[in-house]
Amino acid sequence: MKICILPGDGIGPEITAEAVRVLEALDLKFEMEEALLGGAAVDATGDPYPEATRKLAREADAVLLGAVGGPKWDTLPREQRPERGLLGIRKDLGLFANLRPAILYPELANASSLKPEVVAGLDILIVRELTGDIYFGQPRGIEVRDGERFGFNTMHYTESEIRRIGRVAFEAARKRNKRLCSVDKMNVLETTQLWRDVMIELAPEYPDVELSHMLVDNAAMQLVRAPKQFDVMVTGNMFGDILSDEASMLTGSIGMLPSASLDANNKGLYEPSHGSAPDIAGQGIANPLATILSVAMMLRYTFNQESAALRIENAVKKVLAQGLRTGDIFEPGTTKVGTKQMGDAVLAAL
Ligand code: IPM
Ligand code: MG
Repeated sequence: MKICILPGDGIGPEITAEAVRVLEALDLKFEMEEALLGGAAVDATGDPYPEATRKLAREADAVLLGAVGGPKWDTLPREQRPERGLLGIRKDLGLFANLRPAILYPELANASSLKPEVVAGLDILIVRELTGDIYFGQPRGIEVRDGERFGFNTMHYTESEIRRIGRVAFEAARKRNKRLCSVDKMNVLETTQLWRDVMIELAPEYPDVELSHMLVDNAAMQLVRAPKQFDVMVTGNMFGDILSDEASMLTGSIGMLPSASLDANNKGLYEPSHGSAPDIAGQGIANPLATILSVAMMLRYTFNQESAALRIENAVKKVLAQGLRTGDIFEPGTTKVGTKQMGDAVLAAL
């Protein structure tokens, strides 16, 4: 069981250090090796996804990532930006299925900007296609045409790409409340008409799952109006990027949300849903819980260690119940702790 650790940029190294301590405490004989991705890799090698990282990531059974990016690298040419490293590793490892849970912890109900009754008990899973769509479509670029600059990207999906993410979503719904909402823009975009058609074709294979469809603009609205109507949502790369940020904010605590990006054999890259937070990097105050919960997802999806995954999730619930909070989820009456103290508390609860 080999895990490639990619601390990345900003708060990435601090939060991954705590997640690694949790992995070590499980005593499951993991082999861990660290490599560079994102801005840290650009600084060291000029490449956001260097060859050494590619080799290690390909060999490993799972990858744990902190976060990439920061203002320092925003003005570099596009091929050298940290985000390119993230997109590169997703594509290179064939990580087409991105699972982004949005769960509201009862202790953190006040953190949401929505009324407590609208979000109480919220538990949504967004299944986002991650290696296709307008993110990777060719042709793309900025050119001069007819004497002015012209920007263009291409949205496309093959039916097999839609089918394989559809199956992941139907299977996930099966293990939950058996409701799947497929999100598209079929009233305008042909690619997503195909998306809807393929989802409808798949449905008879999953008679126990109730499939519904929603246009993306309406889905964005419904997520803030009545988010509890959703169980599992499945959508393409671009819409999934936007809706998953929106869904995470319903919980008010993006610092708590893990994610998994899986290939066809459950090899996965696990990372917190939040970014590299350069403004608080190096201060020891970032919330490590999303990364620690990403380790739980790793144990569940890649290593089939459900009981170890539950142990971690219960340890996190316990530290919340004890009233420990990092700055992002702090409220009066709770105890403010730093990154390492939060890690210590999770280890103690384990
Ligand atoms: C995400 C991020 C990435 C994406 C960026 C950093 C390339 O927003 O994982 O959602 O757009 O996929
Ligand atoms: Mg995003």
